[in-house]
Order: sequence, then structure tokens, then C-alpha cells
Amino acid sequence: MAFLLIANWKQQVREAVAPARYATFARTYAKAPWRKSVVLVVAPPLLALPACAARRTRHLALAAQDVGFTNEGAYTGAIGPAAVRALGVTYAIIGHSERRQWYAEDDLLIRRKCAAALTAGLTVILCVGETKDERQEGKAFAVVTRQIKSSLEAVAVRDHLSRLIIAYEPRWAIGSGVSISPQEAQTMHEQIRSQVGKPVLVCYGGSVSPTNAAAFVRAGGADGLLVGSASTTHTSFFAIAKKLAGVRGTT
Ligand code: PGA
Repeated sequence: MAFLLIANWKQQVREAVAPARYATFARTYAKAPWRKSVVLVVAPPLLALPACAARRTRHLALAAQDVGFTNEGAYTGAIGPAAVRALGVTYAIIGHSERRQWYAEDDLLIRRKCAAALTAGLTVILCVGETKDERQEGKAFAVVTRQIKSSLEAVAVRDHLSRLIIAYEPRWAIGSGVSISPQEAQTMHEQIRSQVGKPVLVCYGGSVSPTNAAAFVRAGGADGLLVGSASTTHTSFFAIAKKLAGVRGTT
């Protein structure tokens, strides 16, 4: 099966340049001989989504970095998942640790967002992961289990499990240049799979680079990668994609 490789541009690729960069990525991907081995997804800043969607090709899927939990009503500043889906966007990242940390998103809000996004027809990339303290205190499994359990409590999530992807991202590994070992990641990936109990794609994220990418799918057993900093430039993102393709025997 093809690996999933998701580029999370955060606010690191500015709105003004995102559509052109998306188009360049799409052109490179369309010509890549390894295209069948790696499914690529790009999550530009939300404001750039319509302009990226206008340049969308069937080769390069788009993700929203976040969505609201409603489609209409008195919710100042919210962006409805149905409106995102109507643009031709097919994925939504939900519960990213930066949303949990800087916007105080809790498990209940994340559950509602997952339910709304799945109901709107989006494929959800649900991010889970522990802090450094939680890992040191031996609570990593308990934290991740709680985060996943909360989202699975929504009927809409259980009804659309085939469109749920879980991204395990230890919070302390994000943007730090220090990743977890592939072996430790693998233990968590297995724990997540057994918790869900049905086939589910599990991705790893947190300081992924061209150097460590292959190890996370080989020894780490991940079905794909969620990449921040190293996804913002063409050179490093496609270097990661080629590493994944290499694991599948295509380059
Ligand atoms: P990073 O970010 O690759 O820069 O660590 C990953 C993420 O936030 O998804």
C-alpha cells in the first residue's frame, strides 16, 4: 500500500506564496516515477486554501490545518468543514498539538470537530501525543489512549472510521529537531491500532527529516508521515517522499 505523506505548512509558508508553491509541488509530483508509492497531501494556511484549490490537480490532495465544529450559526471566526469540503479539499488536520497548546483546544472540542469534519465528507487526520513531562512520568500511553477514546465516543466518528487517520506526534518532538526513536514510535503505533480495533492508518510526526523518514515507516511501522518544517521547501519535502518510495522499492 502507498505511504501517506502530509505537508503541514502551518504559518511557515505565507498566504501570498502558498498557491504557487502548491502548484510547483503538484507539477513535480505528477512527473514523479514513484508517484504510486506515496500519496501526497498539502495543508496550506487556511486563508490560502481557496487559491490553492483553484489550482488543484487530481495528483495533489489538499488538507485544512483546522476546521470548526459547525457549518453555520453564531460562531465568530469559525470555518465550517462543509465549506472547506465544497472547495474540493479532502482532508482536515484536527487536534494538532499547536491548537491544543495555543488555542486551548480540549478533547471535547476536538471530538466535535472530528465528528463535523467526517460528517461533511472530509478525511480526518487526528493528532495525538504526549508532552515531555507526560512521557517522563510514564503517562504517554494513557494520554494518547484518552485522546483517541474521546474522539471515538462520537457516533459520527465511529460511523466513518474508514476516513479517520491518526497521527502520533509526541509534542516535545514537534519543531524541536529531536524525534522519538522509531522503536518507541512503533510501540505507540501498535497501541493505537489495537485501541481502535479496526484497520486504521497511523502516521508519525515530529521532527521528520529526509534523514530519519525511512526509519519511521520501516522500524517505526508508520503508514505515513506528518511533516512540518521539512515540508515547506520543495527540496526537503521531495527528498522525504523519495525516501518513502525507496522503502517500497520505487525511486
Ligand atoms: P515538525 O512539525 O516536522 O516541524 O516537527 C510536525 C507537525 O507539527 O506536524
